[in-house]
Amino acid sequence: MSQSAVHDVIVIGAGAAGLHCAATAAKRGRRVLVLDHAKQAGKKILISGGGRCNFTNMYASPENYLSENPHFCKSALSRYTQWDFIGLVNDYGIAYHEKTLGQLFCDDSAKDIVNMLVKECSKNGAHVQLRTEVLSVEHTADGYVVKTSQGLLQAEKIVVACGGLSMPKLGATPLGYQLAEQFGHRVVPVRAGLVPFTLHDADKQRYAELSGLSVDVVASNDRASFKEAMLFTHRGVSGPSMLQISSYWLPGESIAVNLLPQDDVFTALSELRQSRPRMSLRTAIQEWFPKRLALTLCEQYQWPDKNLADCNNALLQSVADTLHQWPLKPNGTEGYRTAEVTLGGVDTNEVSSKTMESRLQPGLFFIGEVLDVTGWLGGYNFQWAWSSGWVCGESV
Ligand code: FDA
Repeated sequence: MSQSAVHDVIVIGAGAAGLHCAATAAKRGRRVLVLDHAKQAGKKILISGGGRCNFTNMYASPENYLSENPHFCKSALSRYTQWDFIGLVNDYGIAYHEKTLGQLFCDDSAKDIVNMLVKECSKNGAHVQLRTEVLSVEHTADGYVVKTSQGLLQAEKIVVACGGLSMPKLGATPLGYQLAEQFGHRVVPVRAGLVPFTLHDADKQRYAELSGLSVDVVASNDRASFKEAMLFTHRGVSGPSMLQISSYWLPGESIAVNLLPQDDVFTALSELRQSRPRMSLRTAIQEWFPKRLALTLCEQYQWPDKNLADCNNALLQSVADTLHQWPLKPNGTEGYRTAEVTLGGVDTNEVSSKTMESRLQPGLFFIGEVLDVTGWLGGYNFQWAWSSGWVCGESV
């Protein structure tokens, strides 16, 4: 293998964080090389948000992130905010819109974001080298030696921006965690986040025929609560509320789902009993839900098919309690195959929140998803990639 020119900075990973960091560092005059084993830069960006990339959230703040050390993300998020990134998007004339809850999506295509980042790199002189797998990194007296599928490379500083484990088919590898451990870092145990749930066999069979049906719910556990849609799938449940709560869920736990967050079911049923005593309980429930779901619930909980006039308060209360606190017990999750993010990662207590440099190994930096910082669904993860990438690019 040939030993090539020494770069100031080698960034491992041409994803969201790596590209933004590289462009920022190159703007400061650093000689930057970005390496990625993929054929294309920013593959996750390209498929994100259904091809329209939910590139940030207008309300992004530290409360929208999970980490063992919740203070870590504050500095980067305040130094490079969603408004800074929106400013860059505006500079490139990319059209976008707010879909819901502050989530900003491209009007046309996620390609606009990738093209913008690649252009920022080339304009400032950062070189992006694709189809180059990073195999190992060693620290020597002269800096860092990076062994790649294309030969040896040398750099003064290394930025680890190779993401987490979600969606291996898009090129995710454990390299970032391996490098962290190699240099003495602790890695907070990783697991799939923003991921659909699978159900136990009985529930799976019961709800499989509801596949495709979506209801607005509030999904809660002791740690979090999300008011968004829930979608029944062939294997379990998904949709924004389920993806969000999955990041706060631990195996074996149940989730309380309020299937009718807007209504007071007991009061509504009591009033109906007065005004329409001959209406059946099942018909009343069907007024709230698609028929298939209403019938499935009635069968599952054996709610009798009798007139409201014949339903006592205890029965109406029990129906109300179930609909407001529908107990969902997942069997597991769909795992990294479909997860949007990886929870856990490089322990942030051993990384500077100002520069993203390792506190254990000078010249080694970690940015983006490889760190133990995970955002909610809704553009928060890209914002973390931009913010952590930018502060690193300013100091590397
Ligand atoms: P990212 O994963 O983007 O980049 C890492 C790069 O490192 C990859 O290009 C990979 O090929 C490369 N790499 C890995 N190992 C390597 C090796 N050994 N050698 C060389 N290169 C290597 N977030 C959001 O805010 N809004 C959204 O709309 C979405 N939508 C979305 C959809 C789907 C389907 C997924 C899977 C994820 C999202 N996300 C999202 C999450 C978001 O994509 C994610 O948090 C960021 O891409 C993380 O950016 P990073 O740069 O840290 O890693």
